[in-house]
Amino acid sequence: MLKIGQVYSAQKAHRKSVMQAMHGILAQPGQPSDPNDKKGRPSGTDDIGMRSLGPGAPSTEYFPFYAMSLEVGSTNAFATVGKETPASTTAIHAGKHDSSSGLSTYDLAIALQYGQGTGSAQLVKFMSDHVKMVHSPPYRNWKCILSAGTTSAFEIILRMLAKPDDYLLVEKYTYTTVFETGLPLGVKFAQVRTDKDGLMPNDLDDILTNWDETVRGSKKPSLLYTIPTGQNPSGITQPLSRRQEIYRIAQKHNLFIVEDDPYYFIQLGLYKTTSQVTEPPTSVEDYVKTLVPSYLSIDTDGRVLRMDSFSKIIAPGARMGWVTASEQVIERMVRGHEVSVQNPSGFSQIAVFKLLHDSWGHLGFVQWLAHLRGEYTKRRDVLFEACELFLPREICRWVPSTAGFFAWISVDWTKHHKVGLMSSLQVEKEIHSAAIDAGTLVVPGSWFLPDEGKSGMDEVFFRMTYAAASTDDIREAIRRFGAALRRVFHLQSQDSCSAVKSVSN
Ligand SMILES: Cc1ncc(COP(=O)(O)O)c(C=O)c1O
Repeated sequence: MLKIGQVYSAQKAHRKSVMQAMHGILAQPGQPSDPNDKKGRPSGTDDIGMRSLGPGAPSTEYFPFYAMSLEVGSTNAFATVGKETPASTTAIHAGKHDSSSGLSTYDLAIALQYGQGTGSAQLVKFMSDHVKMVHSPPYRNWKCILSAGTTSAFEIILRMLAKPDDYLLVEKYTYTTVFETGLPLGVKFAQVRTDKDGLMPNDLDDILTNWDETVRGSKKPSLLYTIPTGQNPSGITQPLSRRQEIYRIAQKHNLFIVEDDPYYFIQLGLYKTTSQVTEPPTSVEDYVKTLVPSYLSIDTDGRVLRMDSFSKIIAPGARMGWVTASEQVIERMVRGHEVSVQNPSGFSQIAVFKLLHDSWGHLGFVQWLAHLRGEYTKRRDVLFEACELFLPREICRWVPSTAGFFAWISVDWTKHHKVGLMSSLQVEKEIHSAAIDAGTLVVPGSWFLPDEGKSGMDEVFFRMTYAAASTDDIREAIRRFGAALRRVFHLQSQDSCSAVKSVSN
């Protein structure tokens, strides 16, 4: 087991807050005691019927919410019908005191009361069962808690695991929020090169083996942040063999891996394959077999902290996710929660609990995930078909993504007529402005580099997403982007009318 003391020096936070210390005593009638916090309840208090004058929590009598009704997708008929409500939905209801009346294990009185840093015990249990079924972590003392979304979880985790001037190893191009979170904490970034399968094990090994503290101004890194599935921005998914190689390097150099995997369940069918699986899975096991195994699932040492998010699979506004790691690491994260978000909003927790536990169950949840896979596969296909039709092949390259939300288009900037007079960054800027003038918004690749990486940028990329625009808008946006590229590179303009005709056929 990895000793977490080796990777961070968080405060020895054994002093409990009043709310935390009281939690075991606070439990509502009918509320299951928290499996994570058995020690919180002084022995004998169950027997004597404790009268609580301790914690400063309001009475649930004064919560002006008596019931909540939701209409959710039905597992037997998941449908995506634009802005309409599907013909078949399921009504779910949460009352204020459902748990004391035996209707449910979770109710509004519990959800809206002060909670624990782990999130509600009921939903933690459901998500822990889900993690067991999907990832089956190969060591005993792993734990799962709820986060207020991955953005929040990552900030708390960086505070725990990194000190100012520490380096975080990242994919060469990565999710910009990682920089925005790390920089104010004084964190520096060491970029690891990637190939078609993601992070390159040799490069990771070289960086760590040849780390020079005097040149880098800081000690050898102990933290790797990776987005292994449908990487943001490149769309790359690391195959299992790559994950295993990276894990071996992590063992060799005693790295702790932060696995940020919001696109894990957006693993798509192969591009333009007619034999896509469209039938809903009939068991969780069958569905899990279709997924690339996660780092968590190969983590024999407890050196992986996995962040999942409901944002891409349920709704970003729920501001909820779940984090899985060894119990020592999770214990520290709970301390971090206690002084920040405390736990996700009670409204979100009960809505997600009612959806997943009371309505869908584990099988329904994976059936929904399989439905999403089918939907995003169609959108992905539309975008890459449009790329084939409209982008100038002489300067553009791409590999259709097999997971996530993104297409990553490489543009050969050395074919610009002013090469030698302009830098790659200047060419990228010119293309970006031309695309905006043409009415297409795409994201320049340099935005996904740390500042120090931008000066040596030798490639030009643009990130596009098929996640939200309508299929017509996707096609039109790519057509305009192609026209903008032709203008910037002085290429012959395409007969766009005939191309539009053929794509709409
Ligand atoms: C790689 C990655 N991590 C995290 C997030 C944010 O997740 P959340 O909404 O849970 O904060 C995103 C959203 O775009 C993302 O792409």
